[in-house]
Amino acid sequence: MRKIVLLFSLFFLSLCTFSQLTVKNLLCDNLVNPIGIDSKQPRFSWQLHAPNRNVLQTAYELVITTSDKKTVFSSGKVSSGQSVHIPYAGKQLEPGKRYLWRVRVWDNNGKRSNWSETAFWETGLLEPANWQARWIEPGYTEDSVMRPSPLMRTGFNTAKTVRHARLYITAHGIYEAFINGSRVGDACLTPGWTSYNKRLQYQAYDVTSLLQKGSNALGVQLGSGWYRGYLAWRNTHDVYGKNLGVLAQLQITYTDGTTQTVISNENWKSSTGAVQYSEIYHGEINDARKDKAGWTKPGYDDSGWSGVRVADHPKDHIVATVNEPIKRHETFKPIKIFKTPNGELVADFGQNLTGYVELSVQGKSGDSVKIYHAEVLDAAGNFYTENLRVAKQENIYVLSGNGVEKFHPHFTFQGFRYIRVEGFPGELKPENITAVALYSGMPATGQWSSSHQLLNQLQHNIQWGQNGNFLDVPTDCPQRDERLGWTGDAQVFSRTAAFNRNVHSFFVKWMQDVAADQVKDGRVPHVVPNVLGEGSSAATGWADAATIIPWNLYLAYGDTAVLARQYESMKAWVQYMQQNSQDDLWNKGFHFGDWLFYRPFDDNDGRSAVTDKYLISQCFYANSVQLMINTATVLGKTEDVQMYTNLLQRVKDAFVKEYLTANGRLVSGTQTAYVLALNFDMLPENLRAQAAERLVQNIKSYNTHLTTGFLGTPYLCHVLSRFGYTDVAYQLLLQESYPSWLYPVKKGATTIWERWNGIRPDGSFEPASMNSFNHYAYGAIGDWMYRVVAGIDTYEDAPGYKHIKIQPHIGGGLKEVSASLETYYGTVASQWKVDGGKLLLEVTIPANTKATVFIPATSDITENNKPVTGTVENGYSKLELGSGRYTFSAPYSPAAVAKKP
Ligand code: BGC
Repeated sequence: MRKIVLLFSLFFLSLCTFSQLTVKNLLCDNLVNPIGIDSKQPRFSWQLHAPNRNVLQTAYELVITTSDKKTVFSSGKVSSGQSVHIPYAGKQLEPGKRYLWRVRVWDNNGKRSNWSETAFWETGLLEPANWQARWIEPGYTEDSVMRPSPLMRTGFNTAKTVRHARLYITAHGIYEAFINGSRVGDACLTPGWTSYNKRLQYQAYDVTSLLQKGSNALGVQLGSGWYRGYLAWRNTHDVYGKNLGVLAQLQITYTDGTTQTVISNENWKSSTGAVQYSEIYHGEINDARKDKAGWTKPGYDDSGWSGVRVADHPKDHIVATVNEPIKRHETFKPIKIFKTPNGELVADFGQNLTGYVELSVQGKSGDSVKIYHAEVLDAAGNFYTENLRVAKQENIYVLSGNGVEKFHPHFTFQGFRYIRVEGFPGELKPENITAVALYSGMPATGQWSSSHQLLNQLQHNIQWGQNGNFLDVPTDCPQRDERLGWTGDAQVFSRTAAFNRNVHSFFVKWMQDVAADQVKDGRVPHVVPNVLGEGSSAATGWADAATIIPWNLYLAYGDTAVLARQYESMKAWVQYMQQNSQDDLWNKGFHFGDWLFYRPFDDNDGRSAVTDKYLISQCFYANSVQLMINTATVLGKTEDVQMYTNLLQRVKDAFVKEYLTANGRLVSGTQTAYVLALNFDMLPENLRAQAAERLVQNIKSYNTHLTTGFLGTPYLCHVLSRFGYTDVAYQLLLQESYPSWLYPVKKGATTIWERWNGIRPDGSFEPASMNSFNHYAYGAIGDWMYRVVAGIDTYEDAPGYKHIKIQPHIGGGLKEVSASLETYYGTVASQWKVDGGKLLLEVTIPANTKATVFIPATSDITENNKPVTGTVENGYSKLELGSGRYTFSAPYSPAAVAKKP
């Protein structure tokens, strides 16, 4: 009996040893089992999981096969600690093919994992030459005022059993595709928005299950969208072209190995249907009486339809989609349906969001229900739409009278919390309306919460500001007649964004448009895709998106490829500044400056926080040069490192000469001036401490309020912390009166506002000409909340959290903060709690990384009840740790931590 028990335990033990180290979460080009990848060298990432601590990968083996199990690539055992972004190194990939891959790893304890589960990726068409399809456009004469949505269709036969089928498709305009009555995929507003005439994305869908033996039908509905709809505020439309069109290629492989390709060509038919009008800003008119029932099904009689025009548009700029498409996410039911003082019927969804409202309604044929959208109610409680400027945001549904009808718009979206409903037959009830949030499907990665309810609401608002403005392009706002990819906004928020969600592929895609739309002389447009013209470019802090975002992606995701890909664009922007400088001073041209800084009404004693625009441009110039040095170093471009190092010194010298007095005062005495000068190391070392003091004095002179605009705000608290004023940073963070982050929270905000005082203390609004309630820029404080308050950061020399820094900053009277981040290696978490003179710190470090952890105590620290000692630095104990979960306890005294840098 004892023998059996022993044998059983040994067997169990050996099972455990094997199952201890596992490989999970396989990604190809940052995506889970993607299809339609055109990269010649897709990159593989995986995570190690192990219950024990200090686990590092020492080797891996990667095997790639085809679906019929032929080996395409086998790496053999590679001695390497690299587990993210490993480029494909096998023979040339074939188009439209599925490749399977799996991996196993060895760790530093001599353990080998089992093989991972098999993941896959599928190549797309790989080359523009593989498009056999032809561009087709509607053959009828369009109503040039309403421009109803075209329907395009074709029928085809499948004679045999289908093994697999893929639809490759893109459009001029936005498309929705259908096969045999079913919608293809669940992506919205495809093909997304790029600089269409330079880069047009196509999508690939697995449509195997939608096909049937015999007759089939493929239908595509188009909307004007960004392609030819109204964009910006100058009545601009038809930016990329006048005519909508589609390019579609359906590739069917039968079980016997034969193939069939159905393409868009001259045999298709075109007509219009229910969607009578659709504009991104203005909304949609959907007349169910005009629906062509069954038009996407086989057997539909399209004999009355028009033919199509085959167009000779180029295909060589068509590229695969690299980012997650826009999808439907959270849904909201109204928290209240009520009559306003003006007698209007309004529903409140409790959350400002971007998307649309689904309507479920029953009525007579010809009844028309109008839905208007607004972000806020005015002081009197009435529906307020003036801040939408000319954007109408109205959806109109005309009923067919056939039972319960369901509607939602197809080619537009709205930014709203409230809707006003007109013409609803009967009583409007919660079950009749559902708000649906739309945004790019970037995985959620960050979580931040604390014992302070208002801060938690701030974090919520930051996240919803991000959700509502990451719609394939990082937009300034989702509601008024802009919704454009403002480069400055994207740049200031990019680092915070990378905490809340995995924005890697989202920005990789957008940065390619930044490069594509960059002017030949290096100027970077104010908005990308650029719909404002080449002259609208080269503004400091906006154009620097070209250098700042690639570097932030490198830090967050450890991606050197993005640096390599953007390098020429980064360089061109810096060269532009250099060529337009005199004596190394970049002080020319138009700049937005520290956009939306604090400016009191009727400012007689000069309290407006105006910062010299050229002082700002010199700081951003230096920062971009610094990022070139960093990037050139990573890419091993030693000559460039030298060149930019010399340039940087000259740029800083010129700054000191022009903008700093002999006594160490900046010519603009604003918070933003000191913040930028300190953050970008513009001042000689010996003058930095006093500059930080001046910054603090300035903050105090405003009764501990910030006065910074778009450009100063992201760095404000970081600079305070760096120079030992985390206590002041906390006071700013927790300030509840205007201007502050919590002022809008106290006013009931559910997203970040464009202005510090969108709604003034007396309830009135700032001018409607520029007053969005969903603008993420000021949400850039999120970066400080994660990196400093919770203390989760990456070291720059091992980016992407390969070498993690955990350094929480206790303060602000907070009792508890908990944050976590899903990195490519796994979860990083930091959670602190102070309670009755005691500090509790819980830290999670994923396998295959290491961490330097700073515990805010100098003695009597225990980990899991065992004493630990670290090197004492600046009032912290520093420990070098490997992967695992750690629970530290230490004595806590508020006085001791108040001043820690
Ligand atoms: C946008 C901004 C943008 C700015 C330029 C505004 O209209 O909404 O967020 O950055 O113009 O200063």
